[in-house]
Amino acid sequence: MFTNGNKGHSKSGVDFLDQSFINNPFPVYKELRNEDPVHRFPLPSGHFAWMITRYEDAVEIFQDKRFVTNPPFMGNVEGAAPPHQEIISRNLLSVNPEDHRRLRRLIQKAFTPRMIERLRGRIVEISDELLDKVLASGKRELDLIADYAFPLPIMVICEMLGVPLEDQDKFQEWSNTIMEGFNNPHMNEKSDEVMKAFVDYLHVLITERRQHLQEDLISDLISVEEEGDVLSEQELYALVFVLIIAGHETTVNLIGNGMLVLLDNPEQKQLLLNDPELIHPALEEILRYNGPAEVSNIRWATEDVEYGGKHIRQGDMLFVSFSSANRDPQQFPEPDMFDITRKVNNHIAFGKGIHFCLGAPLARLEGEIAIHALLRKMPDIRLNTTEESLEWRQGMIIRGLKDFPVSF
Ligand code: HEM
Repeated sequence: MFTNGNKGHSKSGVDFLDQSFINNPFPVYKELRNEDPVHRFPLPSGHFAWMITRYEDAVEIFQDKRFVTNPPFMGNVEGAAPPHQEIISRNLLSVNPEDHRRLRRLIQKAFTPRMIERLRGRIVEISDELLDKVLASGKRELDLIADYAFPLPIMVICEMLGVPLEDQDKFQEWSNTIMEGFNNPHMNEKSDEVMKAFVDYLHVLITERRQHLQEDLISDLISVEEEGDVLSEQELYALVFVLIIAGHETTVNLIGNGMLVLLDNPEQKQLLLNDPELIHPALEEILRYNGPAEVSNIRWATEDVEYGGKHIRQGDMLFVSFSSANRDPQQFPEPDMFDITRKVNNHIAFGKGIHFCLGAPLARLEGEIAIHALLRKMPDIRLNTTEESLEWRQGMIIRGLKDFPVSF
C-alpha cells in the first residue's frame, strides 16, 4: 500500500507533512480513498489521528454530533489564561455547540449580503491599486503572492472592520505577526506581545465605535441584538481575531492556487478571457480542484465509534481532507480535470455543517474580483520559473505557494 514513491509513507501511516506529499498530495489521496478511506496516521507529537478522504464520509462526519471541535473532556478554559490568550481559545471554531449557535446567530445579523456588497467597490479599487503600482514601476514581473494576493485580503478586512486608514499599516503588521505565530511555534513570544497590543487597540476602537456608530462591521456587531442578547466585549475581540485568521491565508491562496491552475490550463484561461461571466463557475472549480483549505480543523470523538470498519476511540482526533473529498470520483465525474464549465459542483471547499465558512460570500467576491482584475490588466500573464521549482508551504491545513513569480 502507498508505494507510489512518496518517501513519507510507511506502514504506520502517511506522513502528511512530508514535502513530497505537500507538493502533490492528490495521488496519495486517491490511494487512500480507494484503499484506506479512514486512515490512521501519526502526528509529529507522537499521537495518532484519523484522516477522512471520501466525500460521502466527509459530509457525514461534519453532521455527526459525536465529532466536535470542543469536546467536554477538554475542560472549560475560561479564566484560566490571560484574556488575550483566552480569545484564541474561545473563537467560533472552538466554542461548544450551544455557544456556537448563539454566536453564529448574532454574527449572521451583521455579516449580511448587504455588508459584503458594500465592500465590492473597495475590493475593485484595492485590486486595481495593487496592480497599477506594479505596472507603474515599469517592471514586467511580480511575485503574485507577495505583491498581490497577500496584501489584498488584509486590506479588505481593515476596510470591512472600519480600521481607520492611518492605522492600517500598524494593524496589518500586527495581524501578519499573529498569522506567522499561528503557523510557527518559535514565534510564540513575539506573537504573544503583539496579541496584547492588538487587543488594546481593539479595545480603543470598539469603545470609540460604541460612542459613534458608523457604516462598518464593528459598529454592526456592536448593534446586533436578539431577544436582549448581545455580543460581549470578549466575544467581539474573539470574532475580529478569527476573521483575520480564517479570512487571511485562505483568501491569499485562493488567488494564488486559482491563478496557478489557470496558467496550467491555458485553454481554460482563454475561455475565461473570452467570456468574463464564466468567473463564477471558474471560481467554484478553482475551489474544488485546488482549494486553499486542504484539511479541516481537528474534530474530536466524544465516544467510541465504529466508522468505515475502524474503531475510533473516545478522545481520538479526526481530520477531514477537503482536497481529497473534492476529487472523489463518486461525486465528481473526471475529478482530476479542471473544467470551468462544470455544471454540478457541490464541493466542500468551505466546509459543511455548523462550522461552514462564515466568510464564504466575501471570499467568493474577493476571489472573483482579484482574478478578474489580473486577467484584465495582464492578459499575457505567465509563470516566470519552472513549475517544478515552485515551493508549497508547509503544514497540513492550508494549501498554498510560498512565492509565485510571474511575468506579463
Ligand atoms: C477562499 C477562502 C476561504 C476558504 C477556502 C475558507 C474555508 C473555510 C472552511 C473549510 C471552514 C470550516 C473549517 C472546519 O470545519 O474545520 C471555514 C470556517 C470559517 N471561515 Fe472561512 N474560508 C475562506 C475565507 C474566509 C473569509 C474571507 C472569512 C472572513 C472574513 C472566513 C471566516 C471563517 C470563519 C469565521 C469560520 C468559522 C465558522 C464557524 O466555526 O462557525 N473565511 N472557512
